[in-house]
Amino acid sequence: MESRAKTRIVSGKLDTEDFPLDTNLRPKRLSVFVGQEKIKDNLKIAIAAAQKRSEPLDHILLYGPPGLGKTTLAYIIAAEMGVNIKITSGPAIERPGDLAALLTNLQKEDVLFIDEVHRLSHPVEEVLYPAMEDFALDIILGKGPGARSLRLSLPRFTLIGATTRFALLSPPLRDRFGAVYRLDFYGEPAIEAILKRSSNILKVGIDNAGLSQIARRSRGTPRVANRLLKRVRDYAQVMANGVITESVALEALAKLEIDTLGLDEVDHKILCTLIGKFDAGPVGLDTIAAVINEEADTIMDVYEPYLLQLGFLERTPRGRIATRLACEHLGLPYKKGQAQPTLW
Ligand SMILES: Nc1ncnc2c1ncn2[C@@H]1O[C@H](COP(=O)(O)OP(=O)(O)O)[C@@H](O)[C@H]1O
Ligand SMILES: [Mg+2]
Repeated sequence: MESRAKTRIVSGKLDTEDFPLDTNLRPKRLSVFVGQEKIKDNLKIAIAAAQKRSEPLDHILLYGPPGLGKTTLAYIIAAEMGVNIKITSGPAIERPGDLAALLTNLQKEDVLFIDEVHRLSHPVEEVLYPAMEDFALDIILGKGPGARSLRLSLPRFTLIGATTRFALLSPPLRDRFGAVYRLDFYGEPAIEAILKRSSNILKVGIDNAGLSQIARRSRGTPRVANRLLKRVRDYAQVMANGVITESVALEALAKLEIDTLGLDEVDHKILCTLIGKFDAGPVGLDTIAAVINEEADTIMDVYEPYLLQLGFLERTPRGRIATRLACEHLGLPYKKGQAQPTLW
């Protein structure tokens, strides 16, 4: 129970970041959604086919680290299909009755978006299975031996689920999604394109060199890119003449304590703890979390994916290990032998 309450705060942090400023930076159509080409191609075909048949789309699961565009894509899918979207999240649906109310209020072909779908409770999931599979809602009337079950039919709808933790999704739920898309970190050119678009919307002047300095530090994540752009814009408006040049970007980013790869204070703490205190590991996630005073869930969802992608961190059955690359980046000595993962 306690860890649930904790993760709720974490997700609250992530959610509120998008609101309300980011709503106008969110691309509204597939044609302006940068990157994730494979997903876009698949979606275009699925949407065209569904429209040709005048049917709703199959249920879709989007997963990947935070800030890569899962919520954005859900809105876009509904817009491209020309249907309404209802938004909720796993922890917000507390009882089966809450979900039943949501489902019975859907119109034909509507999209129901459930964020953090891995956090649905078991009884709520049980209601979702027949809804997804047969567009039906099973209601139990009465109690004890006299109880009867009643099946209501629901409008055909599309469920879009989003999660940062694919592995935590129960297999029966996973199996009921007709399409599963994994969002990857974006390459630098894609992040630059996103920054260019956002700077136009925010009406801030930026040159190519400034753009590429911010892109390089954006952790391949559009949400981070937009956040850095806004902070650098503040700096440019107060300390320079409002235009983001390379030197303005570098000064602003240095003030934000973001290093050349986009790693911030928490990333540094994670790696320095591993290397300095535990000879590069292996160390359990909970130990790291306790030492640096961060939530284990935040480290796992927000920080680790990018450190893993950089090859700075390894997850092994015995715990986390910092790699030689991480030591080199931080300018710390690498103690050979101790940081080797156990092979099995
Ligand atoms: N492909 C993209 N092109 C442009 N902007 C994007 C893209 N993906 C995400 N963004 C921006 O990043 C922010 C975070 O995206 P979001 O969909 O909320 O991520 P997630 O739901 O995966 O955590 C959005 O507000 C949007 O402005
Ligand atoms: Mg989201």
